[in-house]
Amino acid sequence: MALDRVISIADLKRMARRRLPRMAFDYVEGGCDDEVALADSEAAFRSCRLMPRYLVDISRKDLTASAAGQSFSLPIGIAPTGNAGMFRHDADRLLAAEARVANVPFILSGASNASIEEAMAVAPEHCWFQLYGTRDPRLAEDMVRRALGLGVKVLVVTVDVPVTSNRERNRRSGFSHPLKVTPAMIFQAATHPRWTLDYFGHGGLPYMGNFRPYASEGASPAQVADLFVEQFPPLTLTWAFLDRVRQLWPRKLLVKGILHPDDATRAVAAGADGVIVSNHGGRQLDRAIAPLLALPAVHAAVGQKAEIMLDGGIRRGSDIVIARCLGARYVFQGRPTLYGVAAAGRAGIRKALEIFAQELGTILAQIGCPRLDDLGPQFLAQVPGVDR
Ligand code: FNR
Repeated sequence: MALDRVISIADLKRMARRRLPRMAFDYVEGGCDDEVALADSEAAFRSCRLMPRYLVDISRKDLTASAAGQSFSLPIGIAPTGNAGMFRHDADRLLAAEARVANVPFILSGASNASIEEAMAVAPEHCWFQLYGTRDPRLAEDMVRRALGLGVKVLVVTVDVPVTSNRERNRRSGFSHPLKVTPAMIFQAATHPRWTLDYFGHGGLPYMGNFRPYASEGASPAQVADLFVEQFPPLTLTWAFLDRVRQLWPRKLLVKGILHPDDATRAVAAGADGVIVSNHGGRQLDRAIAPLLALPAVHAAVGQKAEIMLDGGIRRGSDIVIARCLGARYVFQGRPTLYGVAAAGRAGIRKALEIFAQELGTILAQIGCPRLDDLGPQFLAQVPGVDR
């Protein structure tokens, strides 16, 4: 399938699947255990129904939205995704560049291949940084200082990885970090020559850029990856970590991976400016509640005091509308732009964002609500788990 025939995010996913060897596709697509949380996140959106209003002047649509004090062209940004270089060489910088073109935020993962320095050079206004706690707290603290020195506007602390999860798809398909050369791996590489040429043509395993400064001089990418595995996850992380980050970081601070309203309250009490309601794309706790279903309680708890954002399962413009009706001021997506970068590089990322923008505009017109700010529960007919 060529990119000009792609008309939906599902098409882009099919295109990515064709280009990627199985272990890379499984890495982007997979959840953990039985992939219940993964399926639930999308299903939650699909079981909501909209209540349209007609004979409304929809000639002037406005898709602009603000998040963490910045104004963006769309209410959907790019979530942090580690190891994106597995899908295409330099994927982090390609994502950053397209975020800048589309004027949406790009959250660089703490486990990215590009370093904060490299990503900020590409998109200084659009690149936010996602921080993970490290076993040696000096590493995470130094990353905060680096981000501060570089002028990063928003720091996102991810809290939903207390322990490594059981990613069975990865285990079955032979994914490892670094990749091990096995007969299955050689077969996958041989049957996906475009990916193989790109990946191995650029030297194979890319560095984990943010950890490189903490490895010994001249360390190989595999040695830096080992350092990451030694440092993460730290197991001892508590709210004290967030307090410490708040002391070090004077700019906007978001906490990602919140599902319980009391955790949202705790994060805001610690000085967070907002929370991202998320279950890590169904990749951490397999029986975790779907983000959309957790949203109303989080909104009730901190909606007046903090910015509420959400990610997980957004595949259509209507999903953005539904999340906003339930109180998410901004949303993020992870996999769709990764399908894009895997399928067609920058043009694929652009395509994913264009599809979201186009679908969003159409749905707003369909329901008779040309302004995002006017979206609310009055446009929802049915929400699972919520009495209406
Ligand atoms: C992620 N996610 C993630 N989150 C995070 O805070 N730090 C990270 O390094 C990663 N890494 C990562 C890798 C890959 C391949 C995926 C697919 C996801 C989770 C991500 O930020 C986001 O929460 C989900 O991707 C949202 O779900 P959707 O949009 O993919 O359904």
